[in-house]
Amino acid sequence: MATLPSFPFNVFAFMLLICEQDLIFGQIHYSIPEEMEQGAFVGNIAQDLGLNVRQLSARKFRLSSDDGGRYLKVSLDNGILSIRERIDREPICGQAEICTVSFKATLENPSEVYRGEVEILDVNDNSPTFGDGSIALQISEASAPGVRFRLERAEDPDIGNNTIAAYTISFTEYFSIKTRRTESDVLIPELLLDKSLDRELQSSFQLLFTATDGGTRQRTGTAQILVTVLDFNDNAPVFDHDIYRVSVSEDAPHGTLVMIVKANDLDEGLNGEITYSFSDVDLRKARNVFSLDPDSGEVRVDGPLDFEKTNSYSLDVQAVDHGSPTMTGHSNVLIKVIDVNDNAPEIKVISASNKIPENAPPGTFLTFIDVVDRDSGENGQVRCELPKNIPFRLQTSSNLYKLVTSETLDREGISEYRLPILARDLGSPSLSSNKTIHIIITDVNDNAPRFAESTYNVYVMENNAPGASIFVLTALDPDLEQNSYVSYSFVDNFIQNLPVSTYLTINSMNGTIYALRSFDYEELKNFQIQVQARDAGVPLLSSSATVNVIVLDQNDNAPVIVSPSYQSGSAAEEGLPRSAGQGYLVTKIMATDADSGQNARIFYQMVKSTDPTLFTVTKNSGEIRTARRILQTDTPVHTLVILVKDNGQPSQSSTVTMNIRVLEISTEGITESSTLVKNPGYFSDLNVYLIIIFSCTSVAFLLIIVLLIGIKCKQDRSIIQGYNTPSYCYNRGDSQDTYKGRPAMEETLRYPGTGRVVRVPEPHQYSVCLSPESAKSDFLFLQPCGAPTSQAE
Ligand SMILES: *[C@@H]1O[C@H](CO)[C@@H](O)[C@H](O)[C@H]1NC(C)=O
Ligand SMILES: *[C@@H]1O[C@H](CO)[C@@H](O)[C@H](O)[C@H]1NC(C)=O
Ligand SMILES: *[C@@H]1O[C@H](CO)[C@@H](O)[C@H](O)[C@H]1NC(C)=O
Repeated sequence: MATLPSFPFNVFAFMLLICEQDLIFGQIHYSIPEEMEQGAFVGNIAQDLGLNVRQLSARKFRLSSDDGGRYLKVSLDNGILSIRERIDREPICGQAEICTVSFKATLENPSEVYRGEVEILDVNDNSPTFGDGSIALQISEASAPGVRFRLERAEDPDIGNNTIAAYTISFTEYFSIKTRRTESDVLIPELLLDKSLDRELQSSFQLLFTATDGGTRQRTGTAQILVTVLDFNDNAPVFDHDIYRVSVSEDAPHGTLVMIVKANDLDEGLNGEITYSFSDVDLRKARNVFSLDPDSGEVRVDGPLDFEKTNSYSLDVQAVDHGSPTMTGHSNVLIKVIDVNDNAPEIKVISASNKIPENAPPGTFLTFIDVVDRDSGENGQVRCELPKNIPFRLQTSSNLYKLVTSETLDREGISEYRLPILARDLGSPSLSSNKTIHIIITDVNDNAPRFAESTYNVYVMENNAPGASIFVLTALDPDLEQNSYVSYSFVDNFIQNLPVSTYLTINSMNGTIYALRSFDYEELKNFQIQVQARDAGVPLLSSSATVNVIVLDQNDNAPVIVSPSYQSGSAAEEGLPRSAGQGYLVTKIMATDADSGQNARIFYQMVKSTDPTLFTVTKNSGEIRTARRILQTDTPVHTLVILVKDNGQPSQSSTVTMNIRVLEISTEGITESSTLVKNPGYFSDLNVYLIIIFSCTSVAFLLIIVLLIGIKCKQDRSIIQGYNTPSYCYNRGDSQDTYKGRPAMEETLRYPGTGRVVRVPEPHQYSVCLSPESAKSDFLFLQPCGAPTSQAE
């Protein structure tokens, strides 16, 4: 390699030599490529200088050079110039286009100096190199295509075509290399962005950067280009879901995790850091109900939930990154609140009044009852109940109930009701509530005053003090207030032709009955009055009771001696035949007592006698009999004082004085009459006499009674008709028929037998019967009522 290419250079040196033959100090020129081997041939300098080889040593030929002596040497044997040391062009000449190593050749005897130079030609012996073999680039992903980035260029110390001719990079669609030449002909490489970068797609590129020189045998140098794509906040956070749907029970406690929202931001760093929040619009809605953790995206219960108030929440959430400017992602959270049976039914009574009159018919409307349960579904369906056995029921229409009566009411039975209304929902577990409705039954005058009995027997001792109260009648009215205010009055009536008001008066306020007069048993034994009790209601109600006033006997009458008759103040005269024997009935004292019972039971007693041995009086019958035969010695006139006394307490008595004359009458009759006494089948003259007197008295009484009854019946007729009785039998002898409930009276009047006392016939021993016909015909007639044997003996 050293010789062949050097041949043209040698020729050129030779030609120069020829031109410089004329010059003494001619200049010779050689050209050699660099990097020739040591000892490589450069030129035949002896020949080129026209010197004889044998003279060289003699003339002390040598190369004295600036620096040529370092790289070149001349062989004195053959005059050949060769390479002493390997020549590298680049350290000697750098980038100079022409590189020469000059030298001087000197000769002595004569001394001659020749100049010469060796041109070093460039050889492509250097590869392009980059500084440290790597190039780092940072390119924002936001950079637009077409942008160029200057690249560090490579170095190649060779010159000309051997220096860098081109740059290339490994293939990528994003980048290419553009080069340009500076004025100083330096090739500048630039990286051209062909396509938008996306850090999120590819965040870095490793490119092989190659510089190629233009030598015949090309040499290359490479470097790594590391392109880092810088993030640009070009991605908004994106939520996992467009809508999050979640349910939460309304009784979820505070802090319960409802859900987690999650957004992703493809950007990095601050551009990818996300803060969650509710959108401004929904912040108010969510406040105190839900919280959203700004970092974790946790949605928690933050306040009481109430299905009944809000059964779902639609909340917009947003995720904001921290880039600049920020980017925001949106989503929606749909939270359904699940109903829990947490509301008891509420009972509302819609009522104007809680009062109802007791005569309200069944079905009367009382009040509306509204039942509200704020839960929904079964939790909100309510059943309302009333207890059984009360006269009220509920009529239903959805959740509105009507309280109506189901039966008739009675204030006097139950005057008020406390109705416990129980409302229960159908949730599970079901909730219930109750409310008591207070119903007041108002009074209606539906009760007449009531006497405890329909008939009262009032016993009044005769000779009572006028004006004293004899009885208190009480009628009760279970109604209220005015309806229960009772006043008393007599039903107009007559007693013995006189109005009741002349006998009795009644305190209308408290029913106390006062006697206005003193009663006389002997005149009026009993009478009947009707008392009416009225309340003050509208309309008023009344009822009446019968009061039997029974006058009780008092021993206020002394016995009256009926026979023998005598002038008051004088003595009764009786005769006694002298022949009368022992036991002869002289006379029988007859006395009556207007009182009754024991008060009328009469005893006889001899209190005085001129000869106590002669006469006796029987205690019960009042017979005066002789105790012995009358003696001649006996005085002709005997005076007896007989005490007649009744059995009352204290007893009343009267006395009769009798003068008994002894008459001189035959004893036959006397004997007969004495036998007559022993045999009651015969009557003595005295007895006949007595019977006549008795009969006369009886007839006289009878007539008086008939007269009295006739008058009375005339007066009573209207009253009797008023009683509407078909037949009214007023039988004073037989009390059982007409006077019911008079046992006391009967006992008072019925004494054990009073022996043989002959009683004065009394009016009550006769019956006066009034039939309706008689009332109509205004005609009275006597008719025995019952057996006439009821008469006392
Ligand atoms: C250098 O290269 C150019 C173009 O390739 C060519 O025309 C020229 O002759 C070359 N020079 C040498 C000294 O090879
Ligand atoms: C009614 O309510 C009271 C308290 O409000 C409660 O004590 C009572 O048990 C309830 N009665 C019923 C029958 O539920
Ligand atoms: C009835 O009223 C009179 C007059 O106010 C009074 O004197 C009498 O005591 C009362 N009787 C009774 C039983 O209250």
